[in-house]
Amino acid sequence: MSGRLAVWFAVVTLGALSTACRRPPRPGDPVPGLSKAERARFDSGRVAFDNIFTPATGLGPLFNADGCAECHEEPVAGGAGDEIERHAAAFHPTPPAGTRPCDELVALGGPVFQQRVTPALRAAVGIDSEPVPPEATAIAGRSSPDIFGFGLLDAVPDSEILSRADPDDRDHDGISGRPNRFFDGRVGRFGRKALVPTLREFNDGATAAEQGVTNPVALDEGTFGGRPFPPGTDPTPEPEISRETIDLVDFFVRLLAPPSPLKLNRQARQGRAAFDSIGCAACHVAALRTGDSPIPALAHRTVAAYTDLLLHDMGPELADICLANATPSEFRTEPLMGVRLMTRFLHDGRATTLEQAIELHNGEAARARERFRTLTAEERAAVVAFLKTL
Ligand code: HEC
Ligand code: HEC
Repeated sequence: MSGRLAVWFAVVTLGALSTACRRPPRPGDPVPGLSKAERARFDSGRVAFDNIFTPATGLGPLFNADGCAECHEEPVAGGAGDEIERHAAAFHPTPPAGTRPCDELVALGGPVFQQRVTPALRAAVGIDSEPVPPEATAIAGRSSPDIFGFGLLDAVPDSEILSRADPDDRDHDGISGRPNRFFDGRVGRFGRKALVPTLREFNDGATAAEQGVTNPVALDEGTFGGRPFPPGTDPTPEPEISRETIDLVDFFVRLLAPPSPLKLNRQARQGRAAFDSIGCAACHVAALRTGDSPIPALAHRTVAAYTDLLLHDMGPELADICLANATPSEFRTEPLMGVRLMTRFLHDGRATTLEQAIELHNGEAARARERFRTLTAEERAAVVAFLKTL
């Protein structure tokens, strides 16, 4: 290469590289600021996340899909999916002494009732899905959300979540968010009912619950409707995947960047102002702050999450199952981070437009919905335009 050409080449490639560094992350990219080693691990994690299981490699006997990426796939691995799962539980508001109001039906195969079975299980017991027992008082649909930016949500300290709880509505704004708590008392935040305290536990549990793939922290293959699997229907010895594999899956999910909010035009700016003034932001809190993290790129960051990670009573129309302390009508404020990539909304995907999703808000969100209804058509369109930038 001639001297002049070499200089030209250096300028052009360096220019391209620095643009690549400044460009906001696209869906499926990692959070910015990773070391080379972290980036390599993220890429290996994507391969583990994309892995497709077969009965010979541990799939089933009961499962919902053959890999994480079958459900978290649009527009790329980590995105949303069209699968709607079936969850069930039994809720008894005044339970017998010594029992909780919510029974997640764990001994009977709950709360996730898998919809597919391996050929071996079908041949042995003649079922096509895990039966929901008659003890269930509600069956819920659960749509598959995108999981971009959830490593940042994991790094938000409990204190930040608890600071917004107002269980007795002392400030009389009609909104009384409260945290869910896991069975051991820890503050929950993951899942539509905010049951699971850490992303690690959610990811580790997903291989077992969704794929029937056991791992060193979820060693039990479970039962079908409370009955043990017949001999020969689970040929692969436990654990079906290694600690190293679940570590990689977790690393990938943890480092997926939140979709960068788009630049606001005039209409979207007007929509953001309305979103704040009609009270949407009381639950959909625009920014959360992360705390310490062993991964520097996740520590002390602001994440445009648009959630308070608290439970809110959303009224009887949306109500389905209970989960730990969450009653049937309580749901975690769904993060609006990345909502522009979703095509179905609310916990079971029942809304096909953002307007419909807002119209279905009730309970603690009734006032905000009423104020939304009193906006002019132009202002409502502006709110929707704003949501489409997130
Ligand atoms: C059969 C479809 C399906 C498969 C396969 C699947 N998921 Fe999910 N995922 C879901 C659904 C449905 C939810 C929402 C759960 C809820 O509403 O409580 C979810 C939620 C999540 C969440 C976010 C929870 C939140 O707080 O909103 C994470 C993280 C996640 N999944 C990770 C994984 C990982 C990792 C794998 C693979 C080991 C996986 N998922 C496999 C359907 C699936
Ligand atoms: C009292 C708290 C609260 C208020 C106020 C509130 N929301 Fe929500 N929002 C929620 C909860 C909880 C969910 C999840 C409900 C579900 O999944 O069934 C949700 C879900 C949504 C969704 C669907 C997201 C998805 O991916 O499924 C949108 C969009 C939304 N809210 C927009 C708004 C707008 C706009 C306003 C103001 C008019 C608003 N919300 C006011 C609590 C609230």
